[in-house]
Amino acid sequence: QELQINLEQIEKGGYDHFMLKEIYEQPNAISDTYRGRMRVAEGIIKMAGIDDNLAKLLNAKRILIIACGTSWHAGLVAEYIFEELVRIPVEVEYASEFRYRNPVIHQDDVVIAISQSGETADTMAAIKLAKERGAFVFGVCNVVGSSISRETHAGAYTHAGPEIGVASTKAFTTQITVLSLIALKLAERKGTISNSDFHYYLQELERIPEKVKLALESNEHIKLIADTYKDAKNFLYLGRGYNFPVALEGALKLKEISYIHAEGYPAAEMKHGPIALIDEQMPVVVIATKKGHYDKVVSNIQEIKSRKGKIIGIVTEGDETVKGLADHVIEIPETIEFLTPLLTTIPLQLLSYHIAVMLDKNVDQPRNLAKSVTVE
Ligand code: AGP
Repeated sequence: QELQINLEQIEKGGYDHFMLKEIYEQPNAISDTYRGRMRVAEGIIKMAGIDDNLAKLLNAKRILIIACGTSWHAGLVAEYIFEELVRIPVEVEYASEFRYRNPVIHQDDVVIAISQSGETADTMAAIKLAKERGAFVFGVCNVVGSSISRETHAGAYTHAGPEIGVASTKAFTTQITVLSLIALKLAERKGTISNSDFHYYLQELERIPEKVKLALESNEHIKLIADTYKDAKNFLYLGRGYNFPVALEGALKLKEISYIHAEGYPAAEMKHGPIALIDEQMPVVVIATKKGHYDKVVSNIQEIKSRKGKIIGIVTEGDETVKGLADHVIEIPETIEFLTPLLTTIPLQLLSYHIAVMLDKNVDQPRNLAKSVTVE
């Protein structure tokens, strides 16, 4: 028994939980994921799965992204990235819905299936359906040799290393890293972004691991905020644009490890009903970074404040405006808009982690959850 405990401590690398270890592994996981695929100085992206299928990908009339849970949130971020950079229509579908609704699939569709475990039954079934209908299926998985990685026509692995915590963290950020590399490669080839922008984006992506480390430095500050709101019964998470999927992901993290009800919403959607929920019992996490409809989000914050909602703002470092309105702010470094999710998700991971620990929940193995949902 004692040996078992010591072994586990070694595996956790001195962290109290695998989830915390994996949150702190993200700078390395992200750099491991782009290493060998991105040569910034020469302005080159090399990914065998993409290079060998470039024509098919460049001629795609539409990209369908299928996934579940956190991977589905990564797919939503990818929708915004691909449509902005590559100018190809993207549709993101829950694999469990896609597989049962007799979807319209064309021969020149490209399907991207995202799965950390590579074993999710709904995602596997959706892949098989897409293949039967003639689509080209590209997988983004974290487990080499997993069923999904073998089922897809081609793919690219995230190099996150084993993710033990049921709540996905480094898988999410490394999935966005791989999807960003794919979008940049296709955009550069299609000419939908300038050569100078391409080089600039590569340089910014290379700076992300250092910026994630800076975002992690707010850990103690976030712990204090977690202590203030750990007994709340409901949370709202709001974001716009690239940070709308991050709001969904932040809510999922809190739900699945602390069992507190939380909802993610597009910030502008509040006035169409959900704002009726706001009162002083309702903490509202608002992602209000300088890039991405900042002024609109600030006015959303003012609407919440006038209804006495408690506001936790995720802001770009140095932001004084939101600091003057919110009850708490958590700062993250500035980056280009489409890479913002890699940084805004960090405080949300830490906030949910600390609340769950303070509520004495089983952080790594939450009740009723499995790391890989191989059932349907
Ligand atoms: C996320 O924290 C959850 N563990 C869960 O939603 C997970 O993302 C989902 O089950 C998909 O798993 P996959 O990426 O292994 O396919």
